Amino acid sequence: KQIPLPEFEGVRFPAVIPIRKKGVEKALQDVREIQSRESDIMICTYPKSGTHWVNEVTNMLIRNKTELDTVTKVSTMLEVIPDLSVLDALPSPRLLNTHCSFKYLPKKHIENRCKIIHIIRNPKDVCISFYYHAKSDPVLDFTGSWDDFFEMWMSDKCPYGSWYNYEKEMEQAEKDFPGMIFTCYFEEMKKDDTGEIQRLANFLEIPCTEKTIANIAETTSFNNMQQNKLDITKVVSGKGFIYRKGEIGDWKNHFTVAQNERFDVQYTERFKGSSYKSFFEQ
Ligand code: A3P
Repeated sequence: KQIPLPEFEGVRFPAVIPIRKKGVEKALQDVREIQSRESDIMICTYPKSGTHWVNEVTNMLIRNKTELDTVTKVSTMLEVIPDLSVLDALPSPRLLNTHCSFKYLPKKHIENRCKIIHIIRNPKDVCISFYYHAKSDPVLDFTGSWDDFFEMWMSDKCPYGSWYNYEKEMEQAEKDFPGMIFTCYFEEMKKDDTGEIQRLANFLEIPCTEKTIANIAETTSFNNMQQNKLDITKVVSGKGFIYRKGEIGDWKNHFTVAQNERFDVQYTERFKGSSYKSFFEQ
């Protein structure tokens, strides 16, 4: 069962408002053309890798605060914003985000060598998290089973395309634009949140005390965000689905032995030579 999503350059995209209204090509072109500011910071992730989490941490660092924000990351998600001119009113530094792959980022963002924050997660956990999201999100409207979703992943038909292509493109961009992209791992954020937040603060060139870092870690813990962060999916559809479990290794509760073997074969074939780490055993 495939989600009937609009397709462009071999990639299926979610049927969000700009894409429904203008078509994928024009919607992506408009994102490419936005007027970037030199201080813009872009969170770039394949879906379900921890975007909301790193967005919240980054927002606290750049705004020098330790409370959860009342706005949600969807308000600055480039491909979803119906009228991109709303971005002009945002104060600098603007914190923007997108799941579109590197080649679709705003041209000026790259020309200006603006900062990019990239979070990567064990793709098996991404796949499970994506399955639950797809079942609940009206713009994805997925009604199939876990087995159906697994096949969709294996055939590169998930919204935003293949995880491998996304991450390989980002890895190449790290080589092409040294120092522009900060990559962190969901799993390392879980194990050493303060260490990773400090590393992110260093990348952003924001001096921070240990106490501030500890406060940010506590406020952005899964439990606190699940309980206290405004979840736009709850507002829109009545049931929130962004803060689901927030754990490492939930794939082990879902993958069959056969699915796991097929996934491993594909991973080895498609991702060999990558310097990105994998956290399958955890
Ligand atoms: P699960 O579905 O495995 O629970 P994104 O923000 O990219 O959509 O990613 C969502 C995933 O990140 C969900 O994973 C969600 O629970 C997890 N997540 C969100 N906030 C988190 C936090 N503060 N700590 C740990 N995981 C978090």
